[in-house]
Amino acid sequence: MIPRVKGTQDFLDLTVFNFVIDEIKKHLTTYHFSEIKTPILESVDLFKRSLGLYTQVVSKEMFLIHPPTPFALGSAEGGKKEAICLRPEATAPTVRAFIENNIQLLPWKVFSYGPMFRYERPQKGRYRQFHQINIEVIGSDSIAQDVQFIKMLDRFFHETLKMNNYALLINFLGCFDDRKAYELLLKDFLEGPKGQHICVQCHDRKERNIMRVFDCKNPQCQEIYRQAPTIVDQLCADCAAEWQQLQDLLRLLSISHAHRPTLVRGLDYYHKTVFEFVSPQLGAQDAFCGGGRYNQLVGQLGGKEDQSSIGAAIGIERLLLLLEPFKDQLPLPQPPALHVILPLSTGQHTLALLLADTLQAQDICIDVLFEGSIKSMMRKTNKMGAAFALIIGQSEQDTKTVMVKNMVTGEEKRVAQTEVADYLKG
Ligand code: HAM
Repeated sequence: MIPRVKGTQDFLDLTVFNFVIDEIKKHLTTYHFSEIKTPILESVDLFKRSLGLYTQVVSKEMFLIHPPTPFALGSAEGGKKEAICLRPEATAPTVRAFIENNIQLLPWKVFSYGPMFRYERPQKGRYRQFHQINIEVIGSDSIAQDVQFIKMLDRFFHETLKMNNYALLINFLGCFDDRKAYELLLKDFLEGPKGQHICVQCHDRKERNIMRVFDCKNPQCQEIYRQAPTIVDQLCADCAAEWQQLQDLLRLLSISHAHRPTLVRGLDYYHKTVFEFVSPQLGAQDAFCGGGRYNQLVGQLGGKEDQSSIGAAIGIERLLLLLEPFKDQLPLPQPPALHVILPLSTGQHTLALLLADTLQAQDICIDVLFEGSIKSMMRKTNKMGAAFALIIGQSEQDTKTVMVKNMVTGEEKRVAQTEVADYLKG
């Protein structure tokens, strides 16, 4: 047996997965978002330029694709080899699509969902192929937009999915200048006496991408970072006012949240508002949704002018882990009642085929068992959870009837073949 690739999953029952997708589509329509789809393959440069060269995702986790050389050389591409990869996230691709399709009507409110790929060390809730629902508002600068966006997510989790086992963490990273000034201040702190005790990896992060030190899980480092200066205390006057407004509006809309000064998010493009929905039930990988404001990405990726934007992605696998214990309480769609046709010998196969075809054409859910003895077919029909077994032997064939057996009560009734559909429909 060739097993599945490490860090990937087989989904054998998509009921809850599809329920989440159907519900978020309905929910986002209410908030006037429209659905888009971008390719799974993208240029490596797109992510180098947007997520940042020193982020974990770009420096260590990209699934690079090598196109087959002879084909590429012989093709119309003239042998030019593109550096392509499997997308690790969907914000940069959405921004690329925004620029490439010359979208004019702002804000552009779109969502997409599908698989993402990161070469991470697999563990509970962390996969190499995972799925995200990605939601973006491109071209809106208002703090009220941030609050509406967060409320939209919170309402989805709390009211649609009836979740109450999570918390919303927020932070405010300020503008570009605030972030730069804060990075210098943090560097001073980490080069002082307290910073001598941070781990080797944090020393490395301090040099390359200093705000990422906060993501370290080492308890000793975490204790040190609790004493570090916080970015919200270093904001310029405009950003300080926006941070205050953000908190006031969150309160106004009754969105319970906690300020987490060390929440910086793992990707370089964020400024100002950042947030994560977390649940202790997920263990170490506790965020099932994360996002924030990114005001310079459109310009960075070649757009004519910058567009202030905000977005988030929901990790579907982590959401499914949280929904698992109470999935029976969700209003999941019920599958239609199943009926199984049992032709007792090959002589009745044609009749079984025709009857199945007639019933399926009337949207009645039908399966046919073409193999096995009557005893084993009945056992299988029972296991399949059928409502009725439709038995066709020689005598039923001769009399143009079907023996219809109620699988719950055991009651049997001979029904004319022309009347089976009406009988099943009740
Ligand atoms: P992210 O925090 O990297 O943000 O991912 C968002 C969510 O995807 C995480 O909170 C988590 O639930 C899920 N996730 C991430 N990596 C994995 C993994 N290896 N296995 C399972 N689930 C995972 C982004 O991707 C940003 N693009 C979000 C965003 C949209 N920001 C603005 N717009």
